[in-house]
Order: sequence, then C-alpha cells, then structure tokens
Amino acid sequence: MEEEFQTTRARFDETTGIGHLTLNRPEALNALSEQLRTDIVDGLRWLESHNEDADGIALRAVVVEGAEGNFCAGADITEFGDDSPGASSERYHYDFVMDFPVPIVAKIRGYCLGGGLETAMACDFRFADADARLGLPEVDLGLIPGAGGVQFISRLANPSVAKEIAMTGEHIGAERARELGIVNRVPDDLDATTAEFAETIASKPPLAIQALKDAANTAVQTGLREGCRYDRRLFEPLIETEDFQEGARAFTEDDYEPEFVGR
Ligand code: COA
Repeated sequence: MEEEFQTTRARFDETTGIGHLTLNRPEALNALSEQLRTDIVDGLRWLESHNEDADGIALRAVVVEGAEGNFCAGADITEFGDDSPGASSERYHYDFVMDFPVPIVAKIRGYCLGGGLETAMACDFRFADADARLGLPEVDLGLIPGAGGVQFISRLANPSVAKEIAMTGEHIGAERARELGIVNRVPDDLDATTAEFAETIASKPPLAIQALKDAANTAVQTGLREGCRYDRRLFEPLIETEDFQEGARAFTEDDYEPEFVGR
C-alpha cells in the first residue's frame, strides 16, 4: 500500500507491519522545505493510521530514507527569511518523530547535514552507508543548528564532540560517526541489514517496544532514581497484556516464533 505526498512517499507493508517513508526532493538533495517538513508528518500519520485497521497488521516499525542517494542536506536555505511560519512547523516535525509511538530507523546514504542530521538523530536508530557524510554546517552560515543538533550529539557522544562537529562544520564519515555513537551501524549491505533490523523490531511485542522507546527517551531527560521509577510505571501494565501471556507460553513451550498482537 502506497501514498504519495508532494515531497514524501510512504509505503506500508501489510505482511510485516513495516512502514517506509522517503524524503523526495532529490533536486535539492532532499533539503527540508516547509512542504517537506509537513509531508514528513503527514507521511508518518498515514503510516500510523494502519494501527486502526481492524483486520490487518498494525504499524510496527518505520524506515526513513532520502530519495536518490542522499538522506537530506539540511534546512532549505532558499526559504530562510520567508514569512512562512517555518520555525514552529520545523520544531513540530522533529518532535513528531521523537514522540512517534513506533520506532523509526533512519537509513542514511550520501549527505546527512544540518536539519537532515537532526531529523536522523530524532529517529530511534541510524544505520548508514560507509560513504555517508554527516555534519552540522550551520556555523558557515553564521547560524547554529536550530533543532537540537548540539543537544543530541552531546548526549549520543559528549559535549566536546558536539562542539567539534558544530564549530568546524566539517562533514564526518559514517564510520567515525559510528565510533562516536551518533550512528548505530555501518553495515556492508545497508538495505538488507536495515530491513532485517526493522523486521526484528516488528516481530517483538508492540506495547513493550513502545514502552522501551518511552523509557530510553525519558532516560536522557531525567535523573536516575526518577527514571527507574518511570520504568517501573511502564513495566507494570505490560504484565496484564496478552503479549506477555504469549511470550511466557512460547518460552515454556520452546516455541521460537511467538505471535504478538499489541494487546
Ligand atoms: N537548501 C536548499 N537547496 C539545497 C541545499 C539546502 N540546504 N543543499 C543543496 N541544495 C541544492 C543546491 O542549491 C543545488 O540546487 P541547483 O542544482 O538548483 O543549484 C542542488 O541542491 C545540488 O546541490 P549542490 O550544492 O550543487 O551539490 P554538491 O554536491 O556540489 O554539494 C553539498 C553538496 C551538500 C555539500 C552542498 O549542497 C551544501 O553545502 N548544501 C548546504 C548544506 C547546509 O548548509 N545545510 C544546512 C542548512 S542550515
């Protein structure tokens, strides 16, 4: 099942529950125009709407990538200074990605710069091609990353690495980004490994996966004690789910292919 938006394409695989979202402005290296930011949210909303399909499988994981060999070259510089309400909607797509109830993998090829890297870091995982180039070049425009680039890298790596990347504006390679913790994996076969990973996540109990995303996102915003209490609150209702019954049954019966339903 597919849906085209002006600058994104969304595809939902009903057999696996995996959604695909493609940023589709290749003529501008998928730079984040106002329209593209809106279409990212609309594409994700369309994918999420499959949760409501009573008969079919619900959305379980999303892979986001850029069309034609680049992830995204950042905010659309030609729209800077427009009177459009860009700033608020820009924040909106990053927050929307972070708060999205289903895990999102950013599959990164080519350039992944500025707001493109911030979008990827708002996702839950980053898998990158060995030739990908990542960076925060805003400093060369007299700006700083406006959607949390320095905050993200300070947490994924450390504040000194964030300063190094943001103050130099230099592009770094995927392998270096992986060493720093900004990228999760740099596989030999990016498509196959990303697909396999998304399938693994999609095969797990959805409510537990959603709680894990919530727990990890909370971990970077709270103290340890408070975070542990938060995890406890996420844990308790899971005991009551059908999926816990199924997981326990599969374990005791040596069934290695439990079927989780998200209840
Ligand atoms: N906003 C708007 N358009 C952009 C863009 C951006 N962030 N990045 C690239 N484009 C456009 C270019 O203007 C060009 O359009 P044109 O063919 O109509 O001239 C097209 O995409 C291809 O880019 P080009 O610069 O010709 O490709 P390149 O391979 O020589 O360089 C980059 C690639 C990524 C190094 C270079 O495009 C770049 O530095 N982009 C800006 C990155 C940036 O500063 N992002 C943060 C913005 S806050």
